[in-house]
Amino acid sequence: MNYVKFGDDLELSQVIVGCMRAKDAGMEGERMLRFVEECLDLGIDSFDHAPVYGGYACEKLFGDAVLRKKPELRRKMKIVTKTGIVLPGTEGNQVIYYKSTKKEIIKELEESLEKLGTDYVDLLLVHRPDPLADPAETADALETVVKEGKALHIGVSNFMPSQITMLQSYLSIPLVTNQMELSVKNVDNFFNGVLDDALTRRMPLMAWSPLGGGSVFSGEDGQSVRLRKVLAEIAQDHGTTMDGVMYAWLFVHPVRIAAITGTMNIERVRTAADARELSLSYDEWYRILAASRGFDVP
Ligand SMILES: NC(=O)c1ccc[n+]([C@@H]2O[C@H](COP(=O)([O-])OP(=O)(O)OC[C@H]3O[C@@H](n4cnc5c(N)ncnc54)[C@H](OP(=O)(O)O)[C@@H]3O)[C@@H](O)[C@H]2O)c1
Repeated sequence: MNYVKFGDDLELSQVIVGCMRAKDAGMEGERMLRFVEECLDLGIDSFDHAPVYGGYACEKLFGDAVLRKKPELRRKMKIVTKTGIVLPGTEGNQVIYYKSTKKEIIKELEESLEKLGTDYVDLLLVHRPDPLADPAETADALETVVKEGKALHIGVSNFMPSQITMLQSYLSIPLVTNQMELSVKNVDNFFNGVLDDALTRRMPLMAWSPLGGGSVFSGEDGQSVRLRKVLAEIAQDHGTTMDGVMYAWLFVHPVRIAAITGTMNIERVRTAADARELSLSYDEWYRILAASRGFDVP
């Protein structure tokens, strides 16, 4: 397994297991524990969470199945969680909103630690930019949880470059990553300044929905149909599968991208782990880009 260094001293496996679908996938108890142990055996040591996954259920499901059953596994893994999304009904609210106040960040992290069955996370991300947030207050909350040892590192998710610059300007510690949607299905962030900004900052990225949420495999839209054809051809040439090619397409980027897999099928996770061995040519990378966008570069 390759590992990606975020900031000075955080290393995450280049394949990170996302736990957003754990509840829907019925990953509870022994099944979840076995899956996590199999991931660790593959060298995949990083697990991505958020309080809102599974309607506030997934963190607890992981804590109950894994860390409360086998606390000794904690030192073998890195845990990422997020903060700042409030689902409808949680505070009597009619709509979902983002909330990056100090009170909310501290409250949510304490609840996450309790649910996950740990007393710290390796990385805490502000899940989405909150247009009402006072960045001085958000920064104060993030520095407080780091000082208290409840989060070892901090970062953001779904932030545009100017939003990172703004929040970083209020912080005395670095934001070590931006977790963004990056995949052959969604190439926008390769062209809107997000990737250039990350390269400028020397900031590796985390890619969410690296397989487009699975839509490439079954979508009947023109983009999915075009992608399936090209991905299948390239997969055949390399003796692998379409998902392997989609991960390799991200891993080749010089910014260094860690892919957060959404599957809870260990064979599919293994495909992601093996994709680091797969080296795509320029021609193959651009053929996939052209299939995604529906046109060749000019
Ligand atoms: N920061 C954010 O705002 C944000 C947003 C969304 C997600 N995330 C994170 O990113 C993680 C991954 O997101 P995602 O679940 O959308 O990722 P994804 O890996 O793009 O999609 C996962 C889906 O693809 C399916 N799939 C995988 N391999 C397949 C194959 N070979 N054939 C057919 N279907 C296949 C999976 O089904 P099976 O389970 O049946 O394999 C699953 O339904 C989440 O768990 C979460 O941690 C973050």
